[in-house]
Amino acid sequence: MIIAIDGPAASGKGTLAIKIAQHYQFAHLDTGLLYRAVAFLLSQKGLDLQDEPQAIAMTHEITEAVLADPHLRGREMGEGASVVAALPGLRAALVDYQRKFATSFPGAVLDGRDIGTVICPDADVKLFVTASLEERSQRRFKELSAKGQSYTYEDILADLKKRDERDSGRSSAPLKAADDAFLIDTTNMTPAEALKMAIRIINSKRTKP
Ligand code: DC
Repeated sequence: MIIAIDGPAASGKGTLAIKIAQHYQFAHLDTGLLYRAVAFLLSQKGLDLQDEPQAIAMTHEITEAVLADPHLRGREMGEGASVVAALPGLRAALVDYQRKFATSFPGAVLDGRDIGTVICPDADVKLFVTASLEERSQRRFKELSAKGQSYTYEDILADLKKRDERDSGRSSAPLKAADDAFLIDTTNMTPAEALKMAIRIINSKRTKP
């Protein structure tokens, strides 16, 4: 069974994907990490984030160790990932890895921006997770403050707004809900409530032939 989860930054899709994977004992791939890894490897080598051939070359250097690097999860790499993610050649170079992951396990959960639309258009369940820009900014602000990073709420809001525009506005696989995706708006939901809703949707699909 393949579960595709898409949505904008800080919508709660990552947390939800992890919990769904735990609940069903499915494998999980955070596909944003792949784009973050490419941005990280490029910047480590002092290369331009818009350099498409080099970005494609970096996909061969993505290892488990790189994916586990805490630098990938910072604000800067989120921004860098959004820039490299607009390169069509790079997106194409990452397709096979993601599809192979999706089909290598009896159950897999993938979260990102284009899982339901491009990577796994035949996924058994598609969820599109959203929340208002203000709520997402508030969540990211709290998360970063807890880590001791001193950004203002306004910085984060401007950041997410720019990222939404870039991710939704690009021509190659823009962020968008698949026609057959279930919408989960987490603005006024706790993570536990979002999980409950997702489980209800997934179970209803599981019992159908
Ligand atoms: O989910 P995230 O914040 O880790 O993603 C970082 C950036 O990577 C995001 O702004 C857009 C890009 N991305 C993408 O284009 N497609 C995906 N499947 C996942 C992430």
